Parts: sequence; structure tokens; C-alpha cells
Amino acid sequence: MRILVVGSGGREHALVWKIAQSKLVDKIFCAPGNGGIAQIAECIDIKADDDCALVEFALKEKIDLTVVGPEAALSIGIADLFEKSGLKIFGPCKQAARLEASKIFSKELMAKYKVPTARFQIFDNPYSAKKYIEEIGVPCVVKADGLAAGKGVVVAQSVEEAKIAVASMMENKVFGYAGENIIIEECLSGQEASILVITDSKEVVALATSQDHKRVFDYDQGPNTGGMGAYSPAPVVTPGILKEIKEKIIYRAIDGLAKEGIDYRGVLYAGIMLTKEGPKTLEFNVRFGDPETEAILPRLKSDLVEVMLATVEGKLNKVRTLEWDSRPCVCVVCASKGYPGDYSKDKEITGLDEAAKIKDVVVFHAGTKKTGDKIVTNGGRVLGVTALGGTIKEAISKTYEAVGKINFEGMHYRKDIASKS
Ligand code: AMP
Ligand code: GLY
Repeated sequence: MRILVVGSGGREHALVWKIAQSKLVDKIFCAPGNGGIAQIAECIDIKADDDCALVEFALKEKIDLTVVGPEAALSIGIADLFEKSGLKIFGPCKQAARLEASKIFSKELMAKYKVPTARFQIFDNPYSAKKYIEEIGVPCVVKADGLAAGKGVVVAQSVEEAKIAVASMMENKVFGYAGENIIIEECLSGQEASILVITDSKEVVALATSQDHKRVFDYDQGPNTGGMGAYSPAPVVTPGILKEIKEKIIYRAIDGLAKEGIDYRGVLYAGIMLTKEGPKTLEFNVRFGDPETEAILPRLKSDLVEVMLATVEGKLNKVRTLEWDSRPCVCVVCASKGYPGDYSKDKEITGLDEAAKIKDVVVFHAGTKKTGDKIVTNGGRVLGVTALGGTIKEAISKTYEAVGKINFEGMHYRKDIASKS
């Protein structure tokens, strides 16, 4: 088979790496890819959200299956366009992608189909939003409705902070249209977990559980990022809790979408808060998590391409369960100085080969590119250094041993990844 992977992050490197292990695959392309992906796939210079150019490429190159990484491509309807052109694509259609692209759509669906989530109110003007904040007090959470590159959520500890968030989203329009409508919701507390499943809307196959580390600094300090590290499995998600999450959150959401006439095919990712009253949904994403995928896929023994193909063809009932490596996996993100704010690029990365020589270590590239015979930084999150270990402690120490071999100017990483596991 000829496969096209869309995207350029650590998640896409992990996808390409796993897809390359499939016996079904002859050739992999990645659009646009990165410096690490270029070592195992042919990178093509088409942006992830240029759906027309991607369809044209897929037709010309006779691509058998396209796999989409980022939400932006899904939210503009890349899956619909591919299907219309008779091409197989793994990722939900535009209507289904609203689950991530519109937090209002998502929350209304949850309310209608009784998916446990934080209590919320929707606002289309800043005056009533600010008045509501005064009424309910803090902590509260202010969320922009639309996609905001992971920056559209403010967990406010003071009334002033919450009002500033409302003003920046609705008056200063820092996220453009995405902040025209907002949600203000109850602040939940507890441990977070990422539950990813693959579904063809009839069957659901769960991926291994994982936990992400969202804040930029150790001990969950500093601003939220796309994710600074992850580990799998998440021991806090016991089999009993997982059953509850599947029954009350995953199945209800997929059945709810089906009742609305929306067939969900692809990965569904539920961000969960394990509260004292049980698991509650923080958000749905319509794609693989990043960096969760880097910690999950090294543990997957089954052929991912078989599962994706079965999903696209609506035959997931033929798969049902996946086989997993019981060893835990840890991924530490190495980021550019300044991320998630401004950062500089083009810093030479050294030590990649030495790190990769360590047994059961894989260095996934995110924001990198190849310049001559050097690999240089090209983004905020630069690498996802990953290791499997006999125990979580062993996986942690191997990962940090590998991180210790790598260097680039301004390299920043958290030292406490998986320490709560
Ligand atoms: P989201 O993009 O909705 O997952 O939000 C990003 C992060 O904000 C989550 O991973 C949580 O850490 C935090 N968050 C979102 N909603 C809430 C909430 N209702 N209560 C507490 N924290 C939240
Ligand atoms: N790691 C969080 C996300 O992928 O949205």
C-alpha cells in the first residue's frame, strides 16, 4: 500500500514510524513532514491544511490510505473532500470534527446526551459574560468556542483574570472568529487522563491510556502548552474507571453524534478529569494527541494500518482488540527557549544518533528540519524523546539518559515527566 500522512509534528513522526512497520505498506509520503520523518518517508512540500493540493497529490500518486494528524485539516473538511474524490482517508468528516472545532457544539452535544462534563454557560457578548463571572465567582474557566492552537482556555483564579480573558477573546479578538462566542464553566479538580479510542461509529477499540503534562515548567507551573511530555499507561485509570469512561463518555458521545446523523470515523480523544464525583469530560479532540501518541504507539504490537483500514471501511468489528507491550513508555518533549511564546529557530541539534543508540529509545522529531547534513530546530516543540522500560522508573531514567545526550541552544524540557505515575 501507498500511504500519505498529513502533518509535521512529533505525533506524525510516531505515526509514520509505526506505519512503516506494517507488512501492508510499500511506500510512505508525509506532507509536509519534518527532519526526522524525512529519514523514513518521502516528505512533500504541501501544507497540512491545503486540502485541494493534497487530493491532487493523492490521486496522482495513487495513494491507498491517507492518515490525518492535525485538527485544522479535519475541521476544514479534508476527509469529506478525499471521500468525494474516491480516496480512503482516516479521520472524521467536517461535521464530526466540530466536536473539537466548536467547544459550544461539543458542550451542547454533551448536555443533550448526558455525557458528564463541567457545568457551563454560553455567551455571545462580553457584558453578560463578565456579569456572570461576578455572580459565580472563581475559580472558573473561560474558553473560546473555536480553534485557538491550544491557547483558548483560561483557568482563572481571580475575577479580574477571568474578565481579562473575556476581554481579550471577545473585545480584543486575539483568536479572531474563534473567540466571538465563549463558554464559562465550572472549574473541575482532580487528575487528568487522555483516553483515545478508534471508532467506525459502530465499534470502539480503545488505545492504551496515557497522561499528558500541559504546563511548561516542572510541577505544573507556567502557561499551558500543547504538551511537554506523556506516559502510558496511566495507572490512575483503573479498569473500573476505564469502563465508566467508555460507558458514560465515549459511547454516549458516539451514539449522540449518530443520532444527530453524524458518522464518526477515526480517533476520538477524550480529555478527562477524574473528579471526586467520577470522570468528567474536559474536551473532545478528533485526532491523535500530541505527545500522547509518541508514548502510546511504541507500546502497540498490532498492525496500525490494518486497524485504520478497517475503520475507514466500517469493518472495525473484525479487529475488536489490540495487542499491547505491557512495558510502560515515557516521552519527554524538548522545546525551544521561550515556547509557548516566541522562540528562535535554526539551532543545530546534536547528539541525536547517540540518544537513539540506547536500547528501546526512539527520538521523535517535531519542529526540526534538515539543512545540509545537519538537523536544526524549526518549531516550539522540537523533539519527543521516548523510551520503553521494564518499569515506569526504568522508562523514566532511560528517557532522561537519552535526553542528556541531546543538545541545542536554549533547549528546555521538564524534569518531572511521569513522576506522579
Ligand atoms: P481543553 O483544551 O478544554 O482540554 O483545556 C485545556 C486544559 O485546561 C485542560 O487540559 C485542563 O488542564 C484545563 N481545563 C479545561 N477545562 C477545565 C475545567 N472545567 N476545569 C479545570 N481545568 C480545566
Ligand atoms: N496533548 C494534548 C493534545 O494533543 O491536545
